[in-house]
Formats: sequence, structure tokens, C-alpha cells
Amino acid sequence: MTDQLFFSTSLLNWHAGHCRPMPWKGERDPYRVWLSEIILQQTRVEQGLPYYEKFVATYPTVRHLADAPLDDILKLWEGLGYYSRARNLHAAAKHVAYTCDGVFPDTYEGLRALKGVGDYTAAAIASFAYDLPHAVLDGNVYRVLARFFGLDIPVNTPAAKKVFSELAGQLLDTSRPGAYNQAIMDFGATHCTPRLAACDSCPMASRCVAAQTGRVDALPVKNKARAKQERFFAYAVFYHRDHIWIHKRGGNDIWADLHEFPLLELDKVPEQTDQLPGLLLRHFFPEGSPAGISLRRISRAYRQTLSHRVVTAVFCEFDLAEATEVADLQKTKMHNYQRIEQFKLKKILAIPRIIDWFWQEKDVTLRLI
Ligand code: ADE
Repeated sequence: MTDQLFFSTSLLNWHAGHCRPMPWKGERDPYRVWLSEIILQQTRVEQGLPYYEKFVATYPTVRHLADAPLDDILKLWEGLGYYSRARNLHAAAKHVAYTCDGVFPDTYEGLRALKGVGDYTAAAIASFAYDLPHAVLDGNVYRVLARFFGLDIPVNTPAAKKVFSELAGQLLDTSRPGAYNQAIMDFGATHCTPRLAACDSCPMASRCVAAQTGRVDALPVKNKARAKQERFFAYAVFYHRDHIWIHKRGGNDIWADLHEFPLLELDKVPEQTDQLPGLLLRHFFPEGSPAGISLRRISRAYRQTLSHRVVTAVFCEFDLAEATEVADLQKTKMHNYQRIEQFKLKKILAIPRIIDWFWQEKDVTLRLI
């Protein structure tokens, strides 16, 4: 038996005995398959599962999703990260609902043309929903193939993409493409994992180059990633009679369409945070701060790592005097912000995770005091 046939056969046998139950497995409805695959991009199954359940329950068909306001979709997406997925989800749903008359594309190319659907997702949907012979290729698949076949081309290069896609295509069991793709996803996620690969109980170990030559930890090879961009956000939380000020972020940056407090972005992380309240007040009220405003406190620094950036945020909380005239604030730099009741921030609006962390912790620490 060739190594390739041995690999595919062993993989499918392994899956038959290690099938992780998941609600989208065996699903043929392309809408549900698509939904699950978008949710699972860059997301672990355990994290994505409750979101899949919520989306299917709230939007049972692509038309329901297409007709929903984007803000509602972003709210349901809250906590999952990579929000462009939710925006693309909405755009693609509208396209399918209104340009394709509610019928999902049934070819790889048609699926690949949908917003937010890349090579991997198109192959997953094509194979799961339509039994089309397209092999998935993602980080898990790169790892499994690099180890089994002993390939040391750096996997984050275009050259590797070509070599690995060809190999993945040859390995695909074209009589059962969906089952094969699901098997390799699960095998990479649970058995041949980045650390602690379970070689002792692996049915492929006898022919796995990495296992046989002691290179499991050395494969796959990756070129060093570039350092992430550091950004520093100073937020001003202004409280006034149960109200706060927020706005919706613009389109061409991280967290587009999510809501946040008045923001001053600084070039670098300051060594000390005690000058931040003064900086914020001078920024938002260049002609002088409103009478009676007082600093409640300065938060700790919160850090969130995104795909290409690390954001550090500090929140300065201010109390505005009861007598402050809201209309007067409209004449300051605050005119870009909207005054809302505090409870709406978490209950109704979609917010970045870093703001959620602060908002939850703030209530806890206040109760402790
Ligand atoms: N990751 C992406 N798609 C997946 C799927 N269908 N099952 C498990 N993990 C996945």
C-alpha cells in the first residue's frame, strides 16, 4: 500500500472510532454548513458551538439573517472576535437571499466568491453540503501533513501552499470528501496537536516520518512572524445621571461598527497613567472642562492581543456634575459621541472585548469597595 493510501485509510478508520459529536456534522443544508464554518474560522469548536446554536435559533434561514440589522448580528457575535466575519456574514447572506433568490451557490467557485469565504471554507462547504471533491487546507492540515510526510518547507510561505494543496488534493478520498475533510480537521485538532501529539496511540505512527525520526516537535517549520503593532487607547468614561457617552467606531480600522467610549489614541504606551485624565480633558474640552467634573478613578491597563496588533487600554472614569447642561457638551469635541443610558452598553450594543472586560470588572470592584 502506498503511503498516501495508508494515510487516507488510517485517517478515516481513526475518525470512525473518535467521532466528536457536533451539531453541524452530517449537516447538508448549505446555510447551516456555511454558518458553522464561518463561526469556526480561527475559533475552537468549544467556543464556537454556543454561537452556532444561537445563530441557527435566531436566524433559521439565510433570509432571516439577511433581513436582520447588522447591529443585532454584531451583538450576537459579541465575544467571538474577528468581527469582520460577522459583517461579511451579513453581506453574503444578503447576496444569497436577494441576488441568488435564497439559493446557496453549489460550486466551489460560487461559494468562494461569497464575502468571507476563503479557500478553506469553500472546500469545507463544497464537500460537506455537496460532496464535491475539494480538500481543506488550514493550520491543522499543514501540521498533520508536514509531520507524516516529513515536509520541512516553512508552512507560512506561498511555496508551501502550492506543495501542500497538491498533496492534500491527492490524499482526499474523492468517494467521501466530506467525511475525509471532517476526519483530518478532527485529527489535527485533537490528536496530532501542536504540543503533546498523541503518537503512542496514533494509527499512522508506523509510517509517520516525524514520529519515526524524532521530529514531531520540529514540524511543521514556520518562518518567524513579524512583531505585532502596539497600540495604546486612553478611554474617557463620562458618567452623568445614569448616562454615559459612546460612539460607533468607523469602518477602516479594528472593531469597525462596535461601540466604545470617547477615545484618545496615543503613539506609545505611557510609563505612568496619572497624566491621562488631564490629557483626556484637554483633548475633549480644549476650551476648559465642564464645571464640577471630577475624576472617579483610573483603571488598570487592559491588554488584548489581536491577529496583527496588541491593544493596551486604560479607562479614566469621570463624574460630571448633576447640573451639567448636556447641550453645552455638544459644543465641545464630545459632539461626535452619543449619550445613552448605562445599561444599554452591555445589553443592547456590541462592544469590543477589552471594553467588556473593563465594564464587568468595574462593577465587581465597585461592589467590593
Ligand atoms: N474547524 C473548522 N471547521 C470545522 C468542522 N467542520 N469541524 C471541526 N472543526 C472545524
